[in-house]
Amino acid sequence: MCVGSKSSCSKEELTYHHGFGNHFESEAYPGALPQGRNNPRIVPLGLYTEQLSGTAFTAPRNENRRTWLYRAQPSVSGTSNSFYACGGSDGTVSSSLPEIFGGADWSTDMKLDPNPMRWGATPLLRSGERVNFIQGVHTLLGSGDATCKSGIGIYVYAFNTNMSGSASGGEDLHMYNSDGDFLIVPQQEALWIQTEIGRLTVAPGEICVIPRGIVFTVNILNPENTAEDGSFARGYMMEIFRGHFMLPELGPIGSNGLANSRDFLHPTAHYESEDSQANKSCIIVNKFGQHLFQRSNPHSPYNVVAWHGNYLPYKYDLGRFCAVNSVTYDHPDPSIYTVLTAKGDENGTALADFVIFPPRVMATDQNTFRPPWFHRNVMTEFMGLIYGKYDAKKGKNGSGGFVPGGASLHSIMTPHGPDAASYDANVKNPCDEPTKFEGGLAFMFESSAMCKLSQYALNCEQRERDYASCWDGLDRAFPTRAE
Ligand SMILES: [Fe+2]
Repeated sequence: MCVGSKSSCSKEELTYHHGFGNHFESEAYPGALPQGRNNPRIVPLGLYTEQLSGTAFTAPRNENRRTWLYRAQPSVSGTSNSFYACGGSDGTVSSSLPEIFGGADWSTDMKLDPNPMRWGATPLLRSGERVNFIQGVHTLLGSGDATCKSGIGIYVYAFNTNMSGSASGGEDLHMYNSDGDFLIVPQQEALWIQTEIGRLTVAPGEICVIPRGIVFTVNILNPENTAEDGSFARGYMMEIFRGHFMLPELGPIGSNGLANSRDFLHPTAHYESEDSQANKSCIIVNKFGQHLFQRSNPHSPYNVVAWHGNYLPYKYDLGRFCAVNSVTYDHPDPSIYTVLTAKGDENGTALADFVIFPPRVMATDQNTFRPPWFHRNVMTEFMGLIYGKYDAKKGKNGSGGFVPGGASLHSIMTPHGPDAASYDANVKNPCDEPTKFEGGLAFMFESSAMCKLSQYALNCEQRERDYASCWDGLDRAFPTRAE
């Protein structure tokens, strides 16, 4: 059995398995894991065997993902309680959950707009109310169609109460996503995420991935932080409708660097051991073709006593990223900061990349412009800020404009780059010695897909409608600009 490690950020000490894409085995009760075979006729301790397939049975061996679960009751138990559409749209049962995940109907509510966009920090809507994770997600961008397993979704979330206990009747809410994998980037408040596979804490500065199909519950790690003072959990999410996130190739960098495999942490087996929890009726929510469906379940889904396999949720501390960059002149492309990638249709072109701009030493020479260059890209670039400032956006009065919890979008071939104030300041900066950028942690969801914007993205109060004016003042200096 793999030896796990303790997390430094947990309300109770959680144990994790280390290593990206590894095969692990884990048991929360001694002797629960069958030895020597996957599906014995007599399963230890009266458990049921269930395989969870994350790739087609026939996927190439190095891409094949599946996990064997040994559980007190199989997932099919309780499904005689049928799913019905959330939102009350079919008139059968009232629901506090939206009909469509993220609130945008992808067939009618999403619009194309090539303009550069920027948004302030995502607020908690419905102030004075308790909002759970599912209710607090807003679709910003989308491309493709989950039913065709093509494209991506980009979301923000803001919520102030746990999924546990927040169903209409006070039951616990649990969810699984038939559409794709979620990559969650907390910006404010640490999350306590329970899954069939085990439990994770995910704090700002960390990310987690919850693969397609795994039942999960998103709670707030320290709910007392969000009790009465109006504070709430906030963050970003990207969803991929096909494939899974992988580590990028390293090429000439060699066999180490960027996000190292050993730093990805997977939960260890955990089950509801108290009868009162294990047999508690709950609500299972299924995201299926972007629509939400719910059904009651007579027992907790968290009854996996042991498992083995390689289809698992995981988390990663962005502070562990080993950044590589130029030590002579110029910048490599920002792909040098890729943490995770998901394959696209073209060789070498990602459906989605998750890229960070971490604190790092800038060691280029005195004639290198250190912020990002002016740029037009074949990819869609969505950026967010976890804390601090971003070095290419000073704003007209030094206030920045690109704020923690906010976001920006530069779509395919939309020009962008440092704003006028940043450009001017950095042209004047002699850059005659290495400096350490420690001012913030920004990230980018980059995709080869052209994305449409939701009505929420286009019309919300935090959209900065004069964003593009930050490039006003980049006046013609040719041929007279002073050296
Ligand atoms: Fe760019």
